[in-house]
Amino acid sequence: MSDQDFDSALTYTSYLAVDELLKLQKPLSKSTDSEGPEHDEMLFIIIHQSYELWFKQLIHEFEAAAKSLEAGDTHRSLAILGRIRTILKVCVTQVDILETMTPLQFNAFRGYLSSSSGFQSAQFRKVEALLGRRDSKMASHLPIDVQEEIHEITSRNSIWDSTLAYLSNRGHKIPSDVLERDKSTHYQSDPRVLEALLEVHRSDPESAMVCERLVDIDEGLQEWRYRHVKMVERTIGHKVGTGGSDGVKYLASTLFNPVFRDLWEIRSQF
Ligand code: HEM
Repeated sequence: MSDQDFDSALTYTSYLAVDELLKLQKPLSKSTDSEGPEHDEMLFIIIHQSYELWFKQLIHEFEAAAKSLEAGDTHRSLAILGRIRTILKVCVTQVDILETMTPLQFNAFRGYLSSSSGFQSAQFRKVEALLGRRDSKMASHLPIDVQEEIHEITSRNSIWDSTLAYLSNRGHKIPSDVLERDKSTHYQSDPRVLEALLEVHRSDPESAMVCERLVDIDEGLQEWRYRHVKMVERTIGHKVGTGGSDGVKYLASTLFNPVFRDLWEIRSQF
């Protein structure tokens, strides 16, 4: 780096846009026993904003993981998938902080949330799309520009498709009709792929490690869903959600749906 490139005016605060960042927490409630907002609303906002930042990082990492898998770069793929797994662990742990808020503390400001809900998180849907969710209705409640972005993601390789391409490039017998399938449709489990995955585990430890990182990520997302639904249950019980769903019942229906089904399926076949 030359001397001219060095911006001597750059500081921690300006580089990270800390001043702008700290202005983004805008509680709406009015406390019944003090001048300002309800005490717990700040935590609620900061937790959600932190998740959105982690979702942004996850999207960034998933895009890089897909490229790296398709380029056949095992070490970089392992590093990125390992990082994604670690971020998901942080996402799961953060639920603990929100669980320090009691139902009464949440109720004190819940009415101010109106119809806003995590159900409207565009980035969460993008993570699901990158992982392989293919469901034409998954973004139908979101703004049109978000629907278009999700449509673009769902028209190309999911992380699973990139992994199958990676395995094929390493000589594993992934059928060409699976590799060339219409990527905008949901991946259907295939006995020929299961056979190839068993062979991966028997004969190719590097590829097997890549597959194991995907299982970690799948488990991480399922853990997050489980912790979220239990946190919701202990906070609002069986009331309907602010997003209009039937709350816990809807969220429970999203549990135990693995993303990489084949990688779970082969476990019964070793
Ligand atoms: C007191 C805290 C929370 C409550 C009571 C709550 C409640 C709910 C409910 C009831 C739903 C179902 C949709 C609806 O009808 O609104 C939902 C969905 C969702 N929430 Fe939360 N939530 C809380 C915290 C969080 C946090 C911290 C996040 C992090 C971003 C989050 C992200 C999501 C996402 C992504 C969905 C959509 C899940 C899906 O469709 O599979 N929630 N939440």
